Amino acid sequence: MRIRSKYKRPTISSYVGMKCTMPTIVWSLVGCLLVLHLYSLVRQKERTGEMQLSLGNRTLFQELLVVEEDNIQIPPPRGKRSPRAAKRRPKKPISLIDEFLDENSQIRHIFFPGERTAIDPLNEDTSNKSYYFPGRIWLDTEGNPIQAHGGGILFDKKASTYYWYGEYKDGPTYQVQKNAPARVDIIGVGCYSSKDLWTWKNEGIVLAAEEKNETHDLHKTNVLERPKVIYNDKTGKYVMWMHVDDANYTKASVGVAISDYPTGPFDYLYSKRPHGFESRDMTIFKDSDGTAYLVYSSEDNSELHIGPLTRDYLDVTNVVKRVLVGEHREAPALFKHRNTYYMITSGCTGWAPNEALAHAAESVLGPWETLGNPCVGGNKMYRLTTFFAQGTFVLPLPGVPGSFIFMADRWNPADLRDSRYVWLPLIVGGKADWPLEYNFGFPLWSRVSIYWHKKWRCPF
Ligand code: GAL
Repeated sequence: MRIRSKYKRPTISSYVGMKCTMPTIVWSLVGCLLVLHLYSLVRQKERTGEMQLSLGNRTLFQELLVVEEDNIQIPPPRGKRSPRAAKRRPKKPISLIDEFLDENSQIRHIFFPGERTAIDPLNEDTSNKSYYFPGRIWLDTEGNPIQAHGGGILFDKKASTYYWYGEYKDGPTYQVQKNAPARVDIIGVGCYSSKDLWTWKNEGIVLAAEEKNETHDLHKTNVLERPKVIYNDKTGKYVMWMHVDDANYTKASVGVAISDYPTGPFDYLYSKRPHGFESRDMTIFKDSDGTAYLVYSSEDNSELHIGPLTRDYLDVTNVVKRVLVGEHREAPALFKHRNTYYMITSGCTGWAPNEALAHAAESVLGPWETLGNPCVGGNKMYRLTTFFAQGTFVLPLPGVPGSFIFMADRWNPADLRDSRYVWLPLIVGGKADWPLEYNFGFPLWSRVSIYWHKKWRCPF
């Protein structure tokens, strides 16, 4: 039986006959405003609560947003100063960064905890299972400290596996000359695989140093830093880009390598100065439409350059933009959320930590706007030193839009192989700052926050 609407449909003639009286216009406007308000409320709710998480995991997620303070007591200075010396120069208070940089500091164990506290996924008691402890030694499935510094992670859909690539630095640290930066000879690019982002299996050195040929870019006396790998869906190849340099950092080039498999071996192709410019700290970023970009510090690290790669990802095109000009930023790590691009960068102080900044843009090629220091929690010195570390990569957390893992290196210039990993949750969201006066200075970016936690785990 057909059910008839009990409401009589208005006929065209009734519309035509409708009079546009003042109250009608006012009420229509009020209606429109109400609809708009409701829409913005729904969008806001979507933005803040879009997790596809179970209730238990939501609790874990909320824990990530807790601001955790960490007050470290600076020990009294060792040894007595003579009264004359004390008079000559007012005693400069020792700061936490001095302690961090002092290899003999009494509180060194806070920044570089010893083997006893190492994260050992195969041996960890259940209460610590799946927990990240920023700064602790992190063992692979063979019980060796993970060697993947300045690294990045590729999620391989085919194998449903994460691959972590980074500098394999398990060699002696030395200086080529006084005042030169501490270094380890190139050993190669280490690769580790994981299903859960916590238990990592060593897949070996997937791009090795050249031992004999001194003219080779990867001769052990040169520099290979910040390797990153992306997959090309069209060619089916895994493509690695890296910073290639000589020991004095004057070559300032990028190197490119290719493989049929995520676990290599990678064939080294060539190096170049992209777009004819110096290139030091760098990263690559693959956008959701498959276009990939190279981002590099240039012009004496005073600015960043961003340009798309060719379709096969083996070269740059001739399109390039200068961004954050005169800002002196390096260690770029790019990521995307809801059609906005974000980037975390560091200042340029070599192996010493400094303040991170977050930036945002509506297009990868810019313009980029600086949002400020994203670090939350710890203490002031933690926030001014990126938790005593330097960013290298930002990895989206699966199933939790707007949530990422911020990967950073706590460099140990006295023994670079013992540099530590600082992984922390990075969240895009929450209320953005509003301009003091109403204006059309849109867009208003979401907040980017990296939360300090002594111990934390992914909410999945
Ligand atoms: C840093 C850079 C590192 C490494 C280091 C050498 O500024 O981010 O990747 O090059 O300098 O001192």
